Amino acid sequence: MMILNNISDMRKIVDQWKKQGLTVGLVPTMGFLHEGHESLIKRAAAENDRVVVSIFVNPIQFGKNEDFSVYPRNIERDSSICQRAGAHAVFNPAADEMYLDGFSTYIDVGDISKELCGKSRPIHFRGVCTVVAKLFNIVKPDRAYFGQKDAQQAAIIHKLIKDLNMDVELVVCPIVRESDGLAKSSRNVYLNPEERKAAPVLHRALCAGESLISSGQKDAEAVKKAIADVINTEPLAKIDYVDVVAFPEIKPVNGDISGKTLVATAVFIGKTRLIDNFIVG
Ligand code: PAF
Repeated sequence: MMILNNISDMRKIVDQWKKQGLTVGLVPTMGFLHEGHESLIKRAAAENDRVVVSIFVNPIQFGKNEDFSVYPRNIERDSSICQRAGAHAVFNPAADEMYLDGFSTYIDVGDISKELCGKSRPIHFRGVCTVVAKLFNIVKPDRAYFGQKDAQQAAIIHKLIKDLNMDVELVVCPIVRESDGLAKSSRNVYLNPEERKAAPVLHRALCAGESLISSGQKDAEAVKKAIADVINTEPLAKIDYVDVVAFPEIKPVNGDISGKTLVATAVFIGKTRLIDNFIVG
C-alpha cells in the first residue's frame, strides 16, 4: 500500500490505474480510523479494483471554537488499518498542499446545509463540500463511500454530485456501533469514563423514537419529545437538537411523518458533541 502526500503523486497513480481500465473507490476520512471507517474501506475494496483512503483533517470545516487543533491524529495506526482493510493507497496531504496561499473558492449547497448540524456549525458543510470536491478532482473516483452516521453530510454530498454533474457514484454505508449502541466516532476518545457510560443515551433515545414510529405514532413533534425525554434523563447530556426531516432533502417535517424520513440528534456529553440518527420509510 502506498502513502502519498502530494497531489501530483496521487494524480499520477490514479492516471496509471485509469489507463489500465481499473475502477477506483475513494473513502474520504479525517483519520483516527475506527471500525466504521474500516467497513467503508472493505466495502470499497469489494466493489472497486483500487481503493484510495484520504486522511486529511480539513481545517476549513471547523468553526473557530471547535476542535481542529486537538482533533485526534495517528497516521501510523491509520495506515495499518487501511492496509488490513484492503486499501491500495492512502492520500495524506498537508494543509498547505490542499489550500495554497490565497485560496478563496468555496462550494455552498444552500438551504440543505442550514438545517440540523448546520444551525450550530454554520460553515461546516461549506468546508466539507469544498474539500470533497477537491478530493474528487484529485482522485477521480468511480465511487465514493460515506457513513450514514453523518446522514446530513451524505445527503449534502448527494446534492453536490447531482447539482455539479459529478461523475461519481455515492455509496452510503450503515452506522457501526459499540456493543452498548454508541455509534463509532473518532470523537469518542474525548469522553472520560463517566461520559463514556452516559453516551449510549443517544442510541437508547433514538430506539425509543423508532419504536414509537413502528407502533403507529406519526406526529413528528411527539417523536421528537419522546427522544428528548430519554436524553434528558441523563444528567451529563445537553441536547443540541432532536429533529425530524425529509431525507435526502433535509426539509423539516411539520405534522405527520410520511415517506423517507431522517430522525437525527446531536447531543453534548460534557464538552463532546456526538451525533446519531435513524432513517424510516
Ligand atoms: O466525514 C468526514 O470525516 C469529513 O467530513 C470528510 C467527508 C472526510 C471531509 O473532510
